Amino acid sequence: MTTLLFYSDSDDIGSRVDWWRDTVAEQMPELEFRAWPDAGDLAEIDYALVWKPEPGLLASLPNLKAILSLGAGVDHIFADPQLPQGVPISRVVNENMALRMREWVLLHVLSHHRRQREYDQLQRARVWRDLEQPHAGERCVGVMGLGELGGDSARHLAAIGFDVIGWSRSPREVPGVRAFHGRDGLKAFLAETDILVSVLPLTPETTDMIDADFLSRLPRGASFINAGRGQQVVEADLLAALDSGHISEATLDVFQTEPLPVTDPLWTHPRVTVTPHIAAFTDPRALVRQVVEDIRRVERGAEVTNPVDPARGY
Ligand code: NAP
Ligand code: GLV
Repeated sequence: MTTLLFYSDSDDIGSRVDWWRDTVAEQMPELEFRAWPDAGDLAEIDYALVWKPEPGLLASLPNLKAILSLGAGVDHIFADPQLPQGVPISRVVNENMALRMREWVLLHVLSHHRRQREYDQLQRARVWRDLEQPHAGERCVGVMGLGELGGDSARHLAAIGFDVIGWSRSPREVPGVRAFHGRDGLKAFLAETDILVSVLPLTPETTDMIDADFLSRLPRGASFINAGRGQQVVEADLLAALDSGHISEATLDVFQTEPLPVTDPLWTHPRVTVTPHIAAFTDPRALVRQVVEDIRRVERGAEVTNPVDPARGY
C-alpha cells in the first residue's frame, strides 16, 4: 500500500481535509491518505504533501520517497533545518496559478498606472478633476522573477502595451520583454523601472533584498507591487521610502509576518494596498492531479513533475 501524509499549518487548507481525502481517492483509490496528526506508523509514509511542515516532521519519515509542496514556493520546506537530504521535492506549476497571478498583477499595475488610488480620494472629496496620464508605452514596468509566474505576467503586461523589462538570476528570454539578469544587471534594471513588480522566490539571496539602498535605485516616484514573499522586504525601509515620497505607492500581498498584525502601520498607510496573500492560490483540483502524477512517476522510477533544485533553493 502506498501512503500519502497530508500536512498544512493553514486553517484554510487544513479545515478541508475531507475534501482533499475524497478528491485524492477519486483520482487514486489505491493510495492511502493520512492527515496529520493521525499519521499512524511513520515508517509507512511514502509521500508528504505539505504546507509549512513543522521542523523535524519530514526527517521523522524514514521511508519518504518525495516531498510535494502545496504551493509554488518551497521556502516553507527549506525553512526546516532538519530537512532530509536527497528526497526529491516537487512544487506547484500549473496554468491556473499563472492565470490567477496574472490577474492580480495586471489589476494592480493598471491601478498604479491609471492613478486609481488618487481618483478614489477625489471621489470621496467629490472633486471632478483629471490627472496627468501617460499611455502604457510610456510606462516602464520592471518584473523581478521571470519564471512560471513572473514570466507569464511580464508577457501579458507587454501584450497590453507597457514597456516591460524583467530581471532574473540567469539569462532569460521572454517575448516582448527586455531582460536583465544577475547582480550586475540589477542597477540598470531598477534605474529604468517606473512600476516594480516582484514575483521572486524566497532564498538566502533574496531575503531582505528590498531595503533602503535597493529602493533608492528606483527613480523618484516609482511604485512597488509585491507578490513574492514578505521576507524579501525590509518593511521599515519601505515605509520610510513611502513617507519621503521616493516611492509613490505600494501594493503588498505578502508580509514579514502573516497574518499581518492588526497594529502594523502598513494596514493604515494612505498609499499602501494590502491583500492577504491571495495573489495566486493553488487550484486544489489541479494540484491533486499533479500530486497523483508525481506519485505515479516516482513509483515507476521517474522524476517528479516539477523538481526543485536544493542548491538554488527554488
Ligand atoms: P520560478 O518559476 O522558479 O521562477 C523564479 C524566478 O525568479 C526565475 O526567473 C529566477 O531566475 C528568479 N530568481 C530567483 N532567485 C533570483 C535571484 N537571486 N535574483 C534574480 N532572480 C532570481 O517560480 P514561480 O513559479 O514563478 O514562483 C515565484 C514565487 O512566487 C514563488 O517562489 C512564491 O514565493 C511566489 N508566489 C506567491 C504567490 C502569492 O499568492 N503571493 C503565489 C504563488 C507563488 P532564473 O530564471 O534565472 O531561474
Ligand atoms: C503561495 O504563496 C505559493 O507559494 O503557492
